[in-house]
Amino acid sequence: MANRTILGICGSLRSKSYNRSALQAAGEVLPEGMTLRIADYRQIPLYDHDLESSGMPSAVLQLAQEIRSADALVIASPEYNFSISGVLKNAIDWLSRVPDQPFKDKPVALMSASLGPVGGARHQYEVRKILGCLEALVMPKPEVFINLCQPKFDADGRLVDAAARKAVADQMQALGRWTGRLLGE
Ligand SMILES: Cc1cc2nc3c(=O)[nH]c(=O)nc-3n(C[C@H](O)[C@H](O)[C@H](O)COP(=O)(O)O)c2cc1C
Repeated sequence: MANRTILGICGSLRSKSYNRSALQAAGEVLPEGMTLRIADYRQIPLYDHDLESSGMPSAVLQLAQEIRSADALVIASPEYNFSISGVLKNAIDWLSRVPDQPFKDKPVALMSASLGPVGGARHQYEVRKILGCLEALVMPKPEVFINLCQPKFDADGRLVDAAARKAVADQMQALGRWTGRLLGE
């Protein structure tokens, strides 16, 4: 597998976020040559067109550059009220306003961990729709839904459920292939 840099974007700001833990698990099971780091974008303000008119916030420009520099993205986010988390949508809305918007043609994998029975599926289908608008190349399969997730993580937040870890590992293998395919390799 060729060297690939993956940027993880978590849709939860919670310090013990299961979704951030899922991203950390993804980093542990990557194919050889792939590396993953998780973006910190909590400094991005609420979207405000007036603020944009006075200059794009530096935190937005920084995240945009991190996305451009990455070969691919993994977005892990909880479902909030059957839909996308406001934190993630706010960041995406800002990023959509940056010249040379960074999602265009970017390979993306989606995963979600949630306490509910459908594992964040309703969030993922919202994100697919939104990223379609931005011409990101979201991998169709395999999907990763870590449902009823609390017992699947240990007290330190490590993803310990064997089936969930395998699903994450399989998705990272597929993301490596998806990225190579899109790069014409
Ligand atoms: C505002 C809010 C709305 C939520 N709505 C849902 C929901 O629609 N479906 C679901 O499965 N869990 C829902 N949850 C519970 C989340 O699955 C749970 O808080 C999860 O731990 C969030 O992910 P995190 O651990 O990465 O922060 C909701 C939580 C919050 C705070």
